[in-house]
Amino acid sequence: MKICFATNNKKKIEEVKAALGPEFELVSLQEIGCVEELPETGNTLDHNAFQKARYVKENFGVDCFADDTGLEVDALDGAPGVYSGRFAGEPRSDERNIDLLLEKMAGKTNRKARFRTVIALILEGKEYQFEGIAEGEILMERIGEKGFGYDPVFKPIGFDKTFAQLSLEEKNEISHRGKAVKALIEFLNHRKF
Ligand code: IMP
Repeated sequence: MKICFATNNKKKIEEVKAALGPEFELVSLQEIGCVEELPETGNTLDHNAFQKARYVKENFGVDCFADDTGLEVDALDGAPGVYSGRFAGEPRSDERNIDLLLEKMAGKTNRKARFRTVIALILEGKEYQFEGIAEGEILMERIGEKGFGYDPVFKPIGFDKTFAQLSLEEKNEISHRGKAVKALIEFLNHRKF
């Protein structure tokens, strides 16, 4: 069964491919001929994930899932949330996003935050949603070189390292995206076709 992961991020594709049963042929956007940027105009993660998945299904006729992730900071009323990638404007820059976050967090004592990933799946005419959450806190400064995005300033709860100090395998075990992907894969692998 052919199913498209609405991304061109090779790492994300490989990760899911490795965990899916042999009945699935997982393809990227590029592989179905979708070269345009997918619409993401909503103000919630759920909205954007479904918007991307529906766009692929409607325009390319392939069953599909799409993910959307945001960092929700309590002291900033949930910001940057759905705008995490473009928090400091375009062109997108992880460095400027972190600078702006640290600036807005200056003097804040409540440092609680979470990453949340929503995966929207369209399969055989039905829609499903999966979610993964990683709770943690925003540090005062960057620590660690690995990962991407806000990883150097995010310390997951119960750990004394930031996401940027964990290996990819360690991060996947506890991360928002790792958990959401796990829920999706459990669902797909246990479905009777
Ligand atoms: P996307 O929905 O996966 O494209 O994520 C949107 C934005 O959230 C990214 O551009 C990053 O700024 C941030 N983000 C998503 N996942 C992570 C993560 O695992 N670590 C750090 N930042 C992330």
